[in-house]
Amino acid sequence: MKTIADYIRTIPNFPHEGIMFRDVTTLFNDARGFRMAVDTLLHPFAGRPIDRVAGLEARGFILGGAVAHQLGVGFIPVRKAGKLPHDRISQDYTLEYGTATVELHTDSFEPGESVLIVDDLLATGGTAEAGIKLIERLGGKVAGCAFVVDLPDLGGRARLEAMGVEVHALCS
Ligand code: PRP
Ligand code: ADE
Repeated sequence: MKTIADYIRTIPNFPHEGIMFRDVTTLFNDARGFRMAVDTLLHPFAGRPIDRVAGLEARGFILGGAVAHQLGVGFIPVRKAGKLPHDRISQDYTLEYGTATVELHTDSFEPGESVLIVDDLLATGGTAEAGIKLIERLGGKVAGCAFVVDLPDLGGRARLEAMGVEVHALCS
Protein backbone atom coordinates (compact mmCIF):
# COMPACT_ATOMS: atom_id res chain seq x y z
CA MET A 1 0.00 0.00 0.00
CA LYS A 2 1.33 3.45 -0.95
CA THR A 3 2.17 5.89 1.83
CA ILE A 4 1.67 9.68 1.63
CA ALA A 5 5.38 10.11 0.86
CA ASP A 6 5.08 7.76 -2.13
CA TYR A 7 2.68 10.21 -3.82
CA ILE A 8 5.06 13.21 -3.50
CA ARG A 9 7.43 13.97 -6.38
CA THR A 10 10.87 15.53 -5.85
CA ILE A 11 12.18 18.06 -8.39
CA PRO A 12 15.90 18.85 -7.95
CA ASN A 13 17.09 22.47 -8.33
CA PHE A 14 13.62 24.09 -8.36
CA PRO A 15 12.97 27.00 -8.08
CA HIS A 16 16.69 27.58 -7.41
CA GLU A 17 19.92 25.58 -7.62
CA GLY A 18 20.30 23.39 -4.53
CA ILE A 19 16.60 23.22 -3.57
CA MET A 20 15.03 19.75 -3.59
CA PHE A 21 11.44 20.80 -4.28
CA ARG A 22 8.81 18.48 -2.80
CA ASP A 23 5.99 18.64 -5.33
CA VAL A 24 2.62 17.72 -3.79
CA THR A 25 0.63 18.19 -7.01
CA THR A 26 1.07 14.45 -7.60
CA LEU A 27 -0.48 13.78 -4.18
CA PHE A 28 -3.39 16.15 -4.84
CA ASN A 29 -3.92 14.57 -8.27
CA ASP A 30 -4.55 11.12 -6.83
CA ALA A 31 -8.03 10.64 -5.33
CA ARG A 32 -6.91 8.11 -2.74
CA GLY A 33 -3.75 10.05 -1.87
CA PHE A 34 -5.60 13.34 -1.49
CA ARG A 35 -8.32 11.83 0.67
CA MET A 36 -5.72 10.09 2.85
CA ALA A 37 -3.79 13.36 3.26
CA VAL A 38 -6.88 15.38 4.27
CA ASP A 39 -8.21 12.72 6.64
CA THR A 40 -4.81 12.21 8.30
CA LEU A 41 -4.18 15.96 8.63
CA LEU A 42 -7.35 16.55 10.60
CA HIS A 43 -7.11 13.33 12.64
CA PRO A 44 -5.25 14.82 15.68
CA PHE A 45 -7.82 17.64 15.84
CA ALA A 46 -11.05 15.67 15.34
CA GLY A 47 -13.35 16.15 18.34
CA ARG A 48 -11.41 19.18 19.55
CA PRO A 49 -12.92 22.68 19.66
CA ILE A 50 -11.68 24.10 16.34
CA ASP A 51 -13.57 27.23 15.20
CA ARG A 52 -11.77 27.90 11.88
CA VAL A 53 -9.12 26.48 9.60
CA ALA A 54 -6.50 28.89 8.21
CA GLY A 55 -4.72 27.85 5.02
CA LEU A 56 -1.35 29.31 4.03
CA GLU A 57 -1.13 30.41 0.39
CA ALA A 58 -1.02 28.64 -1.95
CA ARG A 59 -1.13 24.89 -1.38
CA GLY A 60 -2.49 25.34 2.12
CA PHE A 61 -5.68 26.62 0.46
CA ILE A 62 -6.25 23.30 -1.30
CA LEU A 63 -5.67 21.22 1.83
CA GLY A 64 -7.14 23.68 4.32
CA GLY A 65 -10.38 24.06 2.38
CA ALA A 66 -10.90 20.31 2.41
CA VAL A 67 -9.98 20.05 6.12
CA ALA A 68 -12.42 22.90 6.99
CA HIS A 69 -15.16 21.14 5.04
CA GLN A 70 -14.52 17.88 6.89
CA LEU A 71 -14.48 19.61 10.28
CA GLY A 72 -17.60 21.63 9.41
CA VAL A 73 -15.96 25.00 10.13
CA GLY A 74 -15.11 28.13 8.14
CA PHE A 75 -11.93 28.64 6.14
CA ILE A 76 -9.54 31.62 6.42
CA PRO A 77 -7.00 32.42 3.68
CA VAL A 78 -3.61 33.69 4.88
CA ARG A 79 -2.63 35.46 1.66
CA LYS A 80 0.51 36.89 0.10
CA ALA A 81 0.59 40.72 0.23
CA GLY A 82 -1.74 42.74 -1.95
CA LYS A 83 -4.46 40.15 -2.55
CA LEU A 84 -6.96 40.71 0.27
CA PRO A 85 -9.54 43.43 -0.48
CA HIS A 86 -10.81 44.36 3.01
CA ASP A 87 -9.19 45.69 6.24
CA ARG A 88 -6.09 43.57 6.88
CA ILE A 89 -2.92 43.16 8.95
CA SER A 90 0.49 42.24 7.49
CA GLN A 91 3.43 40.16 8.70
CA ASP A 92 6.86 39.98 7.02
CA TYR A 93 8.85 36.73 7.03
CA THR A 94 11.88 35.04 5.47
CA LEU A 95 11.75 31.87 3.37
CA GLU A 96 14.18 29.08 2.53
CA TYR A 97 14.61 31.06 -0.72
CA GLY A 98 13.63 34.74 -0.35
CA THR A 99 11.44 37.07 1.71
CA ALA A 100 7.71 37.77 1.62
CA THR A 101 4.72 39.24 3.45
CA VAL A 102 1.46 37.54 4.37
CA GLU A 103 -1.84 39.18 5.29
CA LEU A 104 -5.07 38.36 7.09
CA HIS A 105 -8.46 40.10 7.06
CA THR A 106 -9.05 41.67 10.47
CA ASP A 107 -12.59 40.24 10.60
CA SER A 108 -11.49 36.63 9.84
CA PHE A 109 -12.63 35.35 13.26
CA GLU A 110 -13.72 36.52 16.72
CA PRO A 111 -11.07 37.10 19.43
CA GLY A 112 -10.66 33.93 21.52
CA GLU A 113 -11.52 31.55 18.69
CA SER A 114 -9.41 28.47 18.07
CA VAL A 115 -7.73 28.32 14.65
CA LEU A 116 -6.04 25.31 13.04
CA ILE A 117 -3.30 26.24 10.53
CA VAL A 118 -2.82 23.97 7.49
CA ASP A 119 -0.12 23.97 4.82
CA ASP A 120 1.56 21.48 2.52
CA LEU A 121 5.10 21.81 3.80
CA LEU A 122 7.13 22.96 6.80
CA ALA A 123 10.68 24.08 5.94
CA THR A 124 12.22 26.90 8.01
CA GLY A 125 8.86 27.59 9.63
CA GLY A 126 8.94 31.25 8.56
CA THR A 127 5.62 31.13 6.73
CA ALA A 128 3.80 29.29 9.51
CA GLU A 129 5.34 31.56 12.15
CA ALA A 130 4.01 34.58 10.25
CA GLY A 131 0.56 32.93 10.10
CA ILE A 132 0.66 32.22 13.84
CA LYS A 133 1.63 35.82 14.58
CA LEU A 134 -1.22 37.16 12.44
CA ILE A 135 -3.78 34.96 14.21
CA GLU A 136 -2.41 35.81 17.67
CA ARG A 137 -2.32 39.55 16.84
CA LEU A 138 -6.09 39.35 16.22
CA GLY A 139 -6.64 37.58 19.54
CA GLY A 140 -7.00 34.07 18.16
CA LYS A 141 -5.68 30.86 19.75
CA VAL A 142 -3.67 28.60 17.45
CA ALA A 143 -4.95 25.05 18.03
CA GLY A 144 -2.01 23.65 16.09
CA CYS A 145 -0.31 23.45 12.73
CA ALA A 146 -0.80 20.50 10.36
CA PHE A 147 1.51 19.86 7.39
CA VAL A 148 1.84 17.08 4.84
CA VAL A 149 5.67 17.32 4.75
CA ASP A 150 8.20 18.35 7.40
CA LEU A 151 11.78 19.06 6.26
CA PRO A 152 13.38 18.50 9.69
CA ASP A 153 16.87 19.72 8.75
CA LEU A 154 15.46 23.23 8.26
CA GLY A 155 14.28 23.50 11.87
CA GLY A 156 10.68 24.60 11.35
CA ARG A 157 9.16 22.23 13.87
CA ALA A 158 11.50 23.35 16.66
CA ARG A 159 10.82 26.98 15.79
CA LEU A 160 7.03 26.58 16.00
CA GLU A 161 7.16 24.38 19.11
CA ALA A 162 9.32 27.06 20.78
CA MET A 163 6.31 29.37 20.27
CA GLY A 164 4.19 26.85 22.20
CA VAL A 165 2.40 25.59 19.10
CA GLU A 166 1.48 21.94 18.51
CA VAL A 167 2.92 20.65 15.20
CA HIS A 168 1.84 17.61 13.19
CA ALA A 169 3.28 16.38 9.88
CA LEU A 170 2.33 13.33 7.83
CA CYS A 171 5.84 12.60 6.58
CA SER A 172 9.37 14.01 6.71
C1 PRP B 1 6.15 26.92 0.42
C2 PRP B 1 5.29 25.96 1.18
C3 PRP B 1 5.12 26.65 2.51
C4 PRP B 1 6.44 27.37 2.68
C5 PRP B 1 7.31 26.62 3.65
O1 PRP B 1 5.38 27.95 -0.10
O2 PRP B 1 4.07 25.73 0.51
O3 PRP B 1 4.04 27.58 2.50
O4 PRP B 1 7.08 27.40 1.39
O5 PRP B 1 8.54 27.25 3.84
P1 PRP B 1 9.00 27.82 5.25
O6 PRP B 1 8.64 26.81 6.29
O7 PRP B 1 10.50 27.96 5.09
O8 PRP B 1 8.33 29.13 5.46
P2 PRP B 1 6.00 29.09 -1.02
O9 PRP B 1 6.57 30.15 -0.17
O10 PRP B 1 6.91 28.43 -2.01
O11 PRP B 1 4.74 29.76 -1.70
P3 PRP B 1 3.61 29.22 -2.71
O12 PRP B 1 2.83 28.17 -1.95
O13 PRP B 1 2.80 30.44 -2.98
O14 PRP B 1 4.29 28.65 -3.91
N1 ADE C 1 9.04 25.44 0.38
C1 ADE C 1 10.20 25.68 0.97
N2 ADE C 1 11.07 24.69 0.72
C2 ADE C 1 10.43 23.82 -0.08
C3 ADE C 1 10.80 22.59 -0.67
N3 ADE C 1 12.01 22.08 -0.49
N4 ADE C 1 9.89 21.94 -1.41
C4 ADE C 1 8.66 22.49 -1.57
N5 ADE C 1 8.26 23.64 -1.05
C5 ADE C 1 9.14 24.30 -0.30
